Amino acid sequence: MKQQIKIIFAIKGYYSKMMFNDLNIEDWKQLDIDVNSLWIINERDKRGKHKNIYHGNFIPQIPNQLIRRFTKENDLVLDVFLGSGTSLYECESLNRKFIGLDINQNIIDYVSSQMANSQFGNFSIHNCDVTSETQTKTEIEKGLSFLEEENAKFILFHPPYMDIVKFTDNPNDLSKIGDLNTFVKTFVSVCKNTLQYLATNRYFAVIIGDVYKNGEVIPLSFYLMDAIKRNFKTKLKGIIVKNIEGNKGKLGQNGIWTYRAMNSDYYIFKHEYIFVFKKEF
Ligand SMILES: C[S@@+](CC[C@H](N)C(=O)[O-])C[C@H]1O[C@@H](n2cnc3c(N)ncnc32)[C@H](O)[C@@H]1O
Repeated sequence: MKQQIKIIFAIKGYYSKMMFNDLNIEDWKQLDIDVNSLWIINERDKRGKHKNIYHGNFIPQIPNQLIRRFTKENDLVLDVFLGSGTSLYECESLNRKFIGLDINQNIIDYVSSQMANSQFGNFSIHNCDVTSETQTKTEIEKGLSFLEEENAKFILFHPPYMDIVKFTDNPNDLSKIGDLNTFVKTFVSVCKNTLQYLATNRYFAVIIGDVYKNGEVIPLSFYLMDAIKRNFKTKLKGIIVKNIEGNKGKLGQNGIWTYRAMNSDYYIFKHEYIFVFKKEF
């Protein structure tokens, strides 16, 4: 009996040491954490600061699920492509520290105005071109010192899907890149500039979709996943397929797109990917 109790405590101790979230696993049946590789989310969460004003934003449920699964309260989350601040508003309500970077000053100003009256002070957002090693180092280190942290516990990458939606006129904006090889190479350098700030054995996620160019599908998602595996010591922990519904760019136009596709030979993108990696270096 004594031996059994010892073993139970040893197992519990082992698991609590490796835990990277606050989920109460004993209550696992009640947890609304989706551990399946297919996420069908038909309604965007529009509560609080989430306004769906930015073409190319993601739905709040994506960062919400990932942040709750892979971080604990007060852990630091880094979003390398902040956009309209979706992940920041989730960190505010989930009480995670936050650093956000984006090359688009207009959207940084918008996010700052959204946060102006917030009680939440544990965030640091910066205009930063993440393709530049020196700028990225400067801005992330500013954030780390402000938040009194040594590194991030989770990183989100939601880059432009090549040049499908243009964000700024800055020549270093990834949405200016229409060539696949250049895009993949540039994305790898963004990972080099930022993954060094993620703690070892912690997780990062890439949210990305494929594109249609010159009459064929370019599986951009798979190219990026492959490039990460080739360039960084990581374990791929999940390939999640998420449905796309009510995209801001195509709102109310379902009929036209269906008609066009049926009149031709292609399929309409209705999904994107979330790749979850564990950093092992
Ligand atoms: C797909 S959006 C991210 C949307 C965000 N997840 C949201 O919910 O609003 C991609 C973002 O990457 C930014 N971006 C593009 N090139 C960049 C670069 N070189 N450095 C930093 N940000 C960049 C764009 O300005 C855009 O806001």
